[in-house]
Amino acid sequence: MRYERLCAAVIAAAVCVVGASEAAGQLGARTADEWVDLLDRPERAEGLRIDEVIARIGLEPGDVVADIGAGAGTFSLPFARAVSPGGTVYAVEVDAELVDYIDAKAAGEGVENLEGVLGEFTDPALPTREIDVAFFHDVLHHVEDRAGYIENLARYIGPDGRVVIIEGAGHNARPDQSEMHMTREQVTGWMADVGFEPSEAHDLYGPDKWFVVYSRR
Ligand SMILES: C[S@@+](CC[C@H](N)C(=O)[O-])C[C@H]1O[C@@H](n2cnc3c(N)ncnc32)[C@H](O)[C@@H]1O
Repeated sequence: MRYERLCAAVIAAAVCVVGASEAAGQLGARTADEWVDLLDRPERAEGLRIDEVIARIGLEPGDVVADIGAGAGTFSLPFARAVSPGGTVYAVEVDAELVDYIDAKAAGEGVENLEGVLGEFTDPALPTREIDVAFFHDVLHHVEDRAGYIENLARYIGPDGRVVIIEGAGHNARPDQSEMHMTREQVTGWMADVGFEPSEAHDLYGPDKWFVVYSRR
């Protein structure tokens, strides 16, 4: 009997540990409604200069793009238009409500080549391993296991595919958000671990926000 109780306690502890690690994964999390309020504003989209981002990356009809941490789809919809005809954008989110929000927005605007994808905290769970461009804007510092995420992501990138990362340095200055601090050098190290190196850097947003394209060595 004592042995059975011990086993039950061990199993309960294991379930608890697994549950805790599954719950972890997003830093600075917000509800879907909060993200939409914050992200889906025309003046924000204007300031992001998305047409210029598309030009700098060189998105073309036929490209297959993963917009990782797509939020309200601010980049996903213009990207989908840029890769049409023939291309597809996968808008990856860990929040199912945001996936639905993006899908509904695309349908409402007649954008047919955009697919919302419910990713995992450490894996984008994409339906193809032929991604031409994986794009992160203001996302990677929200991922708890960044090195693990990049390792998993690399498996979905096609042979000539690229990873584009845009990150602001602002949150690094906030001592109350130390868990989200992340440097460009750290990202370059994690990318090097999976065989990618910086191939381009763009000065689009000024010194407080970096924009780097990584390609396979
Ligand atoms: C600051 S918002 C940026 C949204 C969008 N990239 C933009 O700039 O408009 C960060 C987004 O990343 C998402 N996110 C956080 N961790 C994620 C992960 N591991 N995989 C996919 N999305 C994630 C959040 O749900 C949130 O929508």
